Amino acid sequence: MHHHAHHAPHDHAHDESMAEVLDLDAAMNRPYFESLLDRVAGQLEREPRSVVDIGAGTGTGTLALARRFPHAQLVALDRSAGMLDRLRKTAEHNGFGDRIRTVEADLDAGLPTVGAIDLAWAALSLHHIEDPDATLRQLAEAMAPGGTVVVTEMESQPRFLPDDIGIGTPGLEARCHEAAASRGWNRWPDWSDNLRRAGFEMVEMRRDELGADVDDTSRRYAHAVLSWMRTGLDNAVSDEDLDTLDRLVGDGPDSVLHRADLVVRGSRTVWIARAIKEENR
Ligand SMILES: C[S@@+](CC[C@H](N)C(=O)[O-])C[C@H]1O[C@@H](n2cnc3c(N)ncnc32)[C@H](O)[C@@H]1O
Repeated sequence: MHHHAHHAPHDHAHDESMAEVLDLDAAMNRPYFESLLDRVAGQLEREPRSVVDIGAGTGTGTLALARRFPHAQLVALDRSAGMLDRLRKTAEHNGFGDRIRTVEADLDAGLPTVGAIDLAWAALSLHHIEDPDATLRQLAEAMAPGGTVVVTEMESQPRFLPDDIGIGTPGLEARCHEAAASRGWNRWPDWSDNLRRAGFEMVEMRRDELGADVDDTSRRYAHAVLSWMRTGLDNAVSDEDLDTLDRLVGDGPDSVLHRADLVVRGSRTVWIARAIKEENR
């Protein structure tokens, strides 16, 4: 199996800094999520009434889904109470308080009963689950006939820097990504086979490139992502690289908040699959 159980401590501070990254990601990539949902809508057999966001985090997906499918009731599932608090506030603030329900649940203990699901969404979350096959099987059981599931993962970690940034040894970002990967960060398989085994038929798998303008939001995003990455890299890269990273996430002239050579690139892999109808199982 290629998935990993997330071994970083599951505590409040950890959730808070991840929540910050997720919120900035939502703000920056909103046009991408909108276009992705348009494509998903084009694959649906009917307007979804019941939508579930699995590992909803701060609600990037939930909010976009609520906007795109105005007749849907939505359930946002997560094991983190802190994430769900944040999600509920955002939902209310955006006028979706009555359509979005949060459910605090650990999927490792099983998918809670939420009623027949027309559309399930699992963004950057499936690889965190200990037994994703079990979760997908439970999901297949919970789907309305012909319902659709969308899984997304981050193809690579977002990239912000050219190879040579004028400080430290060139290739810093690539080395950091490699070190994080070897510690199990963001490891996931091609979910197509898992989806099929669980009782879905694949509709589409695609890889999307994400780019964003360098503005205040994307600078804060770069800062949050690199700070987050920095916390996991002690003893994984050289002291020189850690030093350089510290300067990048500091507030001096080398900081990603100020530097002129910043770029923002990311990518997502997306799987769209359909629940096989009862009579065809
Ligand atoms: C990287 S975040 C992605 C959040 C959101 N889907 C997004 O795209 O912004 C992963 C989320 O999955 C949740 N999660 C991880 N393992 C879980 C589990 N076993 N049960 C429920 N939620 C889980 C985490 O709490 C976190 O909010």
